[in-house]
Amino acid sequence: TILIIDFGSQVTQLIARRVREAGVYCEIHPFQSAAEAFEKLKPKGVILSGGPASVTTEGSPRAPQAVFESGVPILAICYGQQTAALQLGGVVEGGHAAEFGRADIEIKHPSPLFEGFWEVGQRYPVWMSHGDRVTVLPEGFVVAGTSENAPFAIALNEERRIYTTMFHPEVVHTPDGGKLLANFVHNIVGLKSDWSMKAYREEAIRRIREQVGDEKVICGLSGGVDSSVAAVLIHEAIGDQLTCVFVDHGLLRLGEAEKVVTLFRDAYNIPLVHVEAEELFLTALEGVTDPEVKRKTIGKLFIDVFEDEARKIGGAAFLAQGTLYPDVIESVSFTGGPSVTIKSHHNVGGLPERMNMKLVEPLRELFKDEVRALGRELGLPEVFVGRHPFPGPGLAIRCPGEITREKLDILRLADEIYLEEIRRHGLYDKIWQAFAVILPVKTVGVMGDYRTYDYVVGLRAVTSVDGMTADFYPFDMTFLGRVATRIVNEVKGVNRVVYDVTSKPPGTIEWE
Ligand code: XMP
Repeated sequence: TILIIDFGSQVTQLIARRVREAGVYCEIHPFQSAAEAFEKLKPKGVILSGGPASVTTEGSPRAPQAVFESGVPILAICYGQQTAALQLGGVVEGGHAAEFGRADIEIKHPSPLFEGFWEVGQRYPVWMSHGDRVTVLPEGFVVAGTSENAPFAIALNEERRIYTTMFHPEVVHTPDGGKLLANFVHNIVGLKSDWSMKAYREEAIRRIREQVGDEKVICGLSGGVDSSVAAVLIHEAIGDQLTCVFVDHGLLRLGEAEKVVTLFRDAYNIPLVHVEAEELFLTALEGVTDPEVKRKTIGKLFIDVFEDEARKIGGAAFLAQGTLYPDVIESVSFTGGPSVTIKSHHNVGGLPERMNMKLVEPLRELFKDEVRALGRELGLPEVFVGRHPFPGPGLAIRCPGEITREKLDILRLADEIYLEEIRRHGLYDKIWQAFAVILPVKTVGVMGDYRTYDYVVGLRAVTSVDGMTADFYPFDMTFLGRVATRIVNEVKGVNRVVYDVTSKPPGTIEWE
């Protein structure tokens, strides 16, 4: 096991991900409970994460001193480097020129940490993000890499096997970072690459059983990949203690309800309640235009419906959801930290404070592509595993402004045509997510000899690895022209189609 001690960085989960990619099991524990975790897990190696605090502030987080005294190999990143330096007798100062974003480091000294890809005297790109810096190294440490603003970009003590970096090896902007983390766990810690999704599945099942005991669980199923994988996994763990609830909130795509109900009832034999709640949701959303209010309204109604269904089966202590890590991080805001709420994803931040059920979220630490791998491991059909993500609030957040039944009908048809063309041209699997939105404006057009005054449909398609960042998909113009012609001809109420060429950031994938 590798123990990752979390100091609250936005990207701590990426460290875990890289370690998993290296085929090694790891657990993240917050610094507050790290001492117990260290004792209990007896990890073979420890990684200290970055974090938003400054070690120069009184009461700022520290790693358990026992970790440094134990002799296990340590990799300390960013904030981790600073607290390690301080705890080992070095000096850290604030107020230096902050370095954010890309920097080049020059390698000064060889080390098994980057053996095989970084050479002494050469420069390599890394991603930095910090204002404080170490000014005096603890005894026994040497500088193995420097950058313009970070004289101790890599500092290490080979004898004690303590390695520290001021940059973040876990992010994709440090192109060799994955190899560096793999070197740490394989060559320095000495763990073999023997962990896999199969092991994750078993571990997740064990944890679900432990959490749930013999209580009943309600699982909200949206038809998306995440909730489907969560449902199948939980079903494997606790069998018929699980009831799935599929809520048709009237904000689904064309034919969605039938597809989901058929798969789960027929193919999986998982008990599934199909709740028709269109009236309930659309009435509550009448006149609502603010995106956050939409999300929160939908989140609250979902819980009402789940609680209703729980009562019908004689009570359920738990609600299961397919929350993923990017949903968590984008809904959370640490006080004093760099992370702010971008959107309240309905299955996280959009949940009402008052809720009678506890949450089971077995995918909370995974990224989308890892969830897909887990879905394949569980034997979910490829057409399901490979589906584009679909958000819990559904078409509500693809209908900026007021939601009406008329607009939803138009949107469903336009979306269907768009996706049909994408599939027909073999593009579906090249795209992370594609969908249509309907704008709250009408514009003038001419069809035949008539003037038209109808809605505008926007098309969105992006590529992404995990939904945290995304690029717009560079369709061929002829393709876009064809989709536009079909939509305007076949969907009554639309006379104009536009394509969204914004990346994330600065845009988000959904329009609300
Ligand atoms: P954004 O729009 O934040 O979307 O760039 C990133 C990914 O998350 C999906 N998304 C959601 N999924 N509940 C969900 O289950 C939500 O409230 C929600 N909001 C956005 C979005 O479709 C994209 O894949």
